[in-house]
Amino acid sequence: MRKQIVAGNWKMNTLLKDGMELAKAVEKMEKETRGDAVVIIAPPFTHLSKIRELIGNVKLGAQNCASEPSGAFTGEISPEMLRSTGVEYVIIGHSERRSHFHEGNDLLNRKVKLSLSTGLKPIYCCGEVLEEREAGRLFDVVREQLEVGLKGLSAADMANMVIAYEPVWAIGTGKVATPGQAQEMHGFIRGLVAEMFGQEVAQNLSVLYGGSCKPSNAAELFRQPDVDGGLIGGASLKAEDFIAIVHAI
Ligand code: 13P
Repeated sequence: MRKQIVAGNWKMNTLLKDGMELAKAVEKMEKETRGDAVVIIAPPFTHLSKIRELIGNVKLGAQNCASEPSGAFTGEISPEMLRSTGVEYVIIGHSERRSHFHEGNDLLNRKVKLSLSTGLKPIYCCGEVLEEREAGRLFDVVREQLEVGLKGLSAADMANMVIAYEPVWAIGTGKVATPGQAQEMHGFIRGLVAEMFGQEVAQNLSVLYGGSCKPSNAAELFRQPDVDGGLIGGASLKAEDFIAIVHAI
């Protein structure tokens, strides 16, 4: 059985003290109501080592990492640095990284491979913008993101990967994909992974949905056969909402 996962991407939100309070609240609520889902929070880099000390059941994720292992890359944070801080998961290729910081599929492939070699579990993001959906190009876009982003990985590597489908038009807009739209793309992604790595890898892979997911719509999304959980932005900044989404699983 593949893992069900709910991950909170805090983005560039919370100062250290608020972030520590939020992490403590998530940990407490998660502990009181333990379910089967893996619960991950991805705070800003500056909070990671402090928050590591406050959580146990909840897993720690980062929002990005460097594509190089070390050296003269001012301002960058390597996967190994993240590991040394107790981070287990790293979000790679979020649409905000792709659009604001011009990260392309080849660069993201390097980040994925370096992260895996360091022992981190990448949460690799894909998803189309509205114009691509309207032009009927959504599957081609996601295919390329996955074919290039996952290039050179082995089946064993794939056991440590998580994929997140985040249609860009649904991120932070309040406009959630319908369960049917989510299932259609998640089914496509699983099929593509089966083509690339075989049926067993595809069946064991967790594919998360992200984009305006909240307590009121999570259960219906998670009920879809190929939706294995969520990558949550705005609603992960309130412990009650985030945990309500965890319960929706
Ligand atoms: P929202 O849940 O705020 O739409 O953000 C989704 C997201 O980008 C998670 O990575």
